[in-house]
Amino acid sequence: MLAPPGAGKGTQGDRLAEIYGVPHLATGDLLRSYAAQQTPQADEAKRVLQTGELVPDDLVFALVLERIGGPKPLAGFVLDGFPRTIAQARLGYEWAAAHDRTFHAVVSLEVSTEELTTRLRRRGHEEERGDDTAETIRRRLRVYTESTAPLLDFYRNRGILVEVDGGGTVEDVTNRIRLRLDQLVLD
Ligand code: AP5
Ligand code: MG
Repeated sequence: MLAPPGAGKGTQGDRLAEIYGVPHLATGDLLRSYAAQQTPQADEAKRVLQTGELVPDDLVFALVLERIGGPKPLAGFVLDGFPRTIAQARLGYEWAAAHDRTFHAVVSLEVSTEELTTRLRRRGHEEERGDDTAETIRRRLRVYTESTAPLLDFYRNRGILVEVDGGGTVEDVTNRIRLRLDQLVLD
C-alpha cells in the first residue's frame, strides 16, 4: 500500500489481508510499538514519529525483516507504509531477489489533500495518535510528496502500480482494489 497519510492504507490493508488470508504489516504500527519501549533508541524514534518525519531506513527495514524474514520467510503479506523512500525500495527489492520473492502489486489510493486532512483531523479528535495534529499532518503530507510520491513512477515503470480512487465508502474502495488485483492475477 503506497498512499499518503489518511488515504486508507490501514483500513484497506486490514480488509485485503482478511480477504486474501495473509498478514497485514503496517510499519507505522510496528514503529509505534517499538517507540513505546523504554530505551534511548525508542525515545528517539518516538520523537521522529511526533514530528511526522521519517525514521531511518535501516531501523524500519529491520522491523519489517523481523516480521517477514527469518529462516522461513512469509509467503504472502500486505505491506502498508513500506517502502517510503527510494533507498527502502532498493532494500526491499534486494531482499526479494535474494529470497526468490516478488512484490506482485503496489496499490496506490488517490484522495484529495482536502479529504486527507479532514479524515486525519477527525481521527485526531476521536483517537490517541500523537501525529494527528494540524502541524504534523501538514508535515506528513509534505514528507509524502517529497520522499514517497517519487516511488509511484518507480513502480509504474515496473508495471506493478495499481492506482485506485480512494474516495467514497470503505466498501467501495475495497471493491475497486479487489477488481484491479483480480485482473492483475488473471493477466
Ligand atoms: P503510518 O502509521 O503509516 O501513517 P501515515 O502514512 O501517516 O498514514 P495513516 O496511518 O495516518 O493513514 P492510512 O493511510 O493508514 O489511513 P487509515 O486507514 O488510517 O506512519 C506513521 C509514521 O511512522 C510516519 O509519519 C513516519 O514517521 C513513520 N514511518 C512509517 N513507515 C515508515 C517508513 N517506511 N520509513 C520511515 N518512517 C516510517 O485512515 C485514516 C482515517 O480515515 C481513519 O480514521 C479511517 O477510519 C478514515 N477512513 C479510511 N477510509 C475512509 C473512507 N473511505 N471514507 C472516510 N474515512 C475513511
Ligand atoms: Mg495507517
